[in-house]
Amino acid sequence: MPQEINNVVVLGIMKATGNLGPYIVSGLVTAGFRVTVLSRNQPDSNAVISAAAEVLQSDYTYPSLVEAFKSQDAVISTIATMNVQQQVRIIDAAVAAKVKRFIPSDFGSDSSVEGEEHVTGFLKDKQEVVRYLRTKEADGLSWTSLCTGPWVDWLLEEGHGLLGIDIRSKTATIIDSGNQEFTTSTMPMVTKATASILLRPEETKNKYVHVDSFTLTQNLLLEAVERVMRTKFSREKTSREDLLALATKHLEEGDYDNGYYEMVNTVVYSGPPVSLFPGRAIQGKKLLGLVEAEDLDEVVKGVLAKIEKS
Ligand SMILES: NC(=O)c1ccc[n+]([C@@H]2O[C@H](COP(=O)([O-])OP(=O)(O)OC[C@H]3O[C@@H](n4cnc5c(N)ncnc54)[C@H](OP(=O)(O)O)[C@@H]3O)[C@@H](O)[C@H]2O)c1
Repeated sequence: MPQEINNVVVLGIMKATGNLGPYIVSGLVTAGFRVTVLSRNQPDSNAVISAAAEVLQSDYTYPSLVEAFKSQDAVISTIATMNVQQQVRIIDAAVAAKVKRFIPSDFGSDSSVEGEEHVTGFLKDKQEVVRYLRTKEADGLSWTSLCTGPWVDWLLEEGHGLLGIDIRSKTATIIDSGNQEFTTSTMPMVTKATASILLRPEETKNKYVHVDSFTLTQNLLLEAVERVMRTKFSREKTSREDLLALATKHLEEGDYDNGYYEMVNTVVYSGPPVSLFPGRAIQGKKLLGLVEAEDLDEVVKGVLAKIEKS
């Protein structure tokens, strides 16, 4: 039976070091979709984008977006966290171009839970986008939001004290007891889940879908890193409360570089329901047919290999 969704446009991607976009593009190409990349810019010479994807430039004005979305079945937005509100115009253009499915730039904590916006302002912005998407269902645009938790491999590789574990300096900042459980996914899980959503358009229509690779604690993750590296990390301690105050202060002062990373850590270790959702992830993986188990030590080995190469 032919797939309902064949042509997919991914927008927000051209960063040289590639956060989410390049992974999604490569996963979709592997799954057999015809992929177009939409960017405000010319491809960066360092950008790692699958050669099989067509690249289109757009100034993100409404007419340029409608033109770019014509004959596309799905739009996947990987727009930067701080710019998610811009998706309203992008959604309007998708409706006008008769796109069937929109996947908004969520890809993190469980933003389906109402009343938890105090955990971080990022949640509120992302929820507002989904509320807007719901108003477009009657116009024929369906949506799916993917909740993955933090990407354990990507965050460990990125550094900047993310997850409170710095592989390069062999240091850790343990947040509270280090025993708070959190739901986390690897980049292979995130990309496979995204492709699976488009391969199952009916089952995933107009809903949040959750996935995970592991339920971890900071202590369990640090033990795995130390085991694989055969090294003991030096440890400091902080509280989530102090970290939240620091993150809020930095963001208010416009110090995005520090504030963003600190805020991510406060969210990761905030517990249920935003950052711990194993039951929903089991249901989501069942829906998407994702059955392969992953091995944490192998994930850590992959991260170390990438860091050594860089
Ligand atoms: N779960 C996790 O661990 C985790 C980690 C990181 C990110 N995320 C989530 O994943 C999603 C994507 O994040 P990311 O880190 O991949 O984003 P990013 O790399 O910071 O930005 C992605 C792209 O957004 C576009 N963009 C940036 N500012 C823009 C603007 N003002 N107007 C239009 N486009 C703009 C740019 O693409 P062009 O220049 O090509 O237009 C940029 O390369 C977000 O929802 C984020 O919250 C989750």
